[in-house]
Amino acid sequence: MSNREFEVADDFLTIGRTFAEYRRMFDLGIDDLAGRELLDCGGGAGAFTATAAELAADAGAVDPLYGPPAAALESELDAAIEYNVTQLREKRDLFVWDFYGDVDTRSRYLRAAAERFLADYATHPDRYVAGGLPDLPVDDDSVDLALVANLLFVYDDRLDREFHAAALRDLARVAREEVRVFPLHSLDRTRSEYVEPVAESLRTDGHRVSLREVPYEFQPGATEMLVIEP
Ligand SMILES: C[S@@+](CC[C@H](N)C(=O)[O-])C[C@H]1O[C@@H](n2cnc3c(N)ncnc32)[C@H](O)[C@@H]1O
Repeated sequence: MSNREFEVADDFLTIGRTFAEYRRMFDLGIDDLAGRELLDCGGGAGAFTATAAELAADAGAVDPLYGPPAAALESELDAAIEYNVTQLREKRDLFVWDFYGDVDTRSRYLRAAAERFLADYATHPDRYVAGGLPDLPVDDDSVDLALVANLLFVYDDRLDREFHAAALRDLARVAREEVRVFPLHSLDRTRSEYVEPVAESLRTDGHRVSLREVPYEFQPGATEMLVIEP
């Protein structure tokens, strides 16, 4: 059995997290969200946008997945959850269970996120824009805070260093105040080797870049997010 966390069948796993998980992954307080303009990039089947929209001035998500009707996405999301949960049962010792407790609870989080996402995607399609990094279909300086969860650095075996640099530059273009990225570990369970060089190239461009500890750990040791202040 491989020691990698997951062997991702397709290019990217279309599972999503809940608002509660996002709050921890990005150490988000109410002040970070209330009355602000938010973008979840690579939002996938996550419930962040749906719930954040209740507090924010505006909340939206971008993902290449978006476009088909909700009913057409449902079976793909179900299959991704099944796949992920099966892998988690086989590889549960590779993870830290302080937050979820056990695989069944994690599975309920995944289902809750997908259900909330599908309902909101059907009723507020305007919040979900088809597109992707490194060329987001989003205007310059159009959001306060942009988030990227479980995409950059995670898939560093198929997204190269140039892609990461271009993606983060594009996020810095659309965000007025902050870009937050979590986690910084890749699927092989170590911190991505792109974190430092990409952070350095953003600093050279004139952005403030820092690493911040967050109150969430699922991959052992992956407890930092990257923060870019454009
Ligand atoms: C593992 S999911 C994470 C979903 C969500 N951010 C979360 O943490 O729950 C990765 C997502 O990235 C999306 N994705 C893949 N390539 C992308 C790109 N170039 N730009 C934006 N999103 C992309 C996939 O479609 C997928 O929904």
